[in-house]
Amino acid sequence: MKIYVYGTGCGAGGLIDSALPAEKVKAFVEREGGGTFLGRPVISLDQLAGSDFDILIVASRDAEHVERECAKLGIGAGKLFYLKNHMKTVDRNQSYDMAGKLLGEHFTEGVRCSEKLIRVPLWTERERISGPGSDNDYVRLKTLEAISMRLENVAGATAELGVNRGAFARWINELLPDRTIYLFDTFAGFDPEESRDCGAGFREAHRNTTVETVLAALPHPEKAVIRPGLFPETAVGLDAERFALVSLDADLETSTLEGLDFFMPRINKGGYLLLHDYNDPKLPGVRKALERWEAEHGKVLAVPLCDVNGTLVIAF
Ligand SMILES: C[S@@+](CC[C@H](N)C(=O)[O-])C[C@H]1O[C@@H](n2cnc3c(N)ncnc32)[C@H](O)[C@@H]1O
Repeated sequence: MKIYVYGTGCGAGGLIDSALPAEKVKAFVEREGGGTFLGRPVISLDQLAGSDFDILIVASRDAEHVERECAKLGIGAGKLFYLKNHMKTVDRNQSYDMAGKLLGEHFTEGVRCSEKLIRVPLWTERERISGPGSDNDYVRLKTLEAISMRLENVAGATAELGVNRGAFARWINELLPDRTIYLFDTFAGFDPEESRDCGAGFREAHRNTTVETVLAALPHPEKAVIRPGLFPETAVGLDAERFALVSLDADLETSTLEGLDFFMPRINKGGYLLLHDYNDPKLPGVRKALERWEAEHGKVLAVPLCDVNGTLVIAF
């Protein structure tokens, strides 16, 4: 089989170390040919175009360039197999068959593109977020997973203000099963006064939950402390409580500000607050609430996520 590898960088080196001995590679390909890499000749794409070959494994991040140049040179897209594919949001690989046979299916499955930009599992052997509900916003959930792995030496409970049906709380409870999880929600939708300008559909959709629905969604319901009713009245008696992780997902300005006022001084060093919808133009009150909080207390240390609704991760 005539195998070529595009690239002479870390991607190509890693491929040779892990799945494809250099002796099996006829030549490496670069923008400018010349010289050798790992004892094999390095040629240009022009030189490759004239030859008959079975597969060009693209071990470079520059997939757009390779795709464009190959098209110009009449190299069929079906002969290309992109390795850096898992970093992209569009799958360029037309087939996994030949590459699977050559490199092993385990290897090629790992490059499948499914918008999974962080490979799973992270450091552990076990994928911690999988099964029902795990398709809900990959970046948000994987960030939660990564954060949960940094909380080992941080004391404190977990909490969510704005639980709705428990779609996110379920994962906090799964990832941090030994911690108390406080769940604050009316479980009957938004405060009618605060949500008076919101659409009827938005208001009705958030009324559609019960405490039982949420408890049934939790893998460790015995760790849940349900605080039903309008926050912050429902935080009464919790002044001395301290938190390692808080999800603040109340959607509207006043409630978000109330949440910041209560939780910000109660999160232990090393802990995190995930402010959902911070970069969501449909819910501008969330950003305004943080601006108001920062005007009074100073700027927070935070990283905005590129998840679906623009969560802001505040670090303590
Ligand atoms: C977008 S939903 C939460 C979604 C949930 N975190 C998830 O990821 O699936 C917002 C929730 O905030 C609740 N909420 C907003 N303001 C509140 C307040 N002041 N007190 C209690 N619940 C509130 C609403 O009842 C609603 O269920």
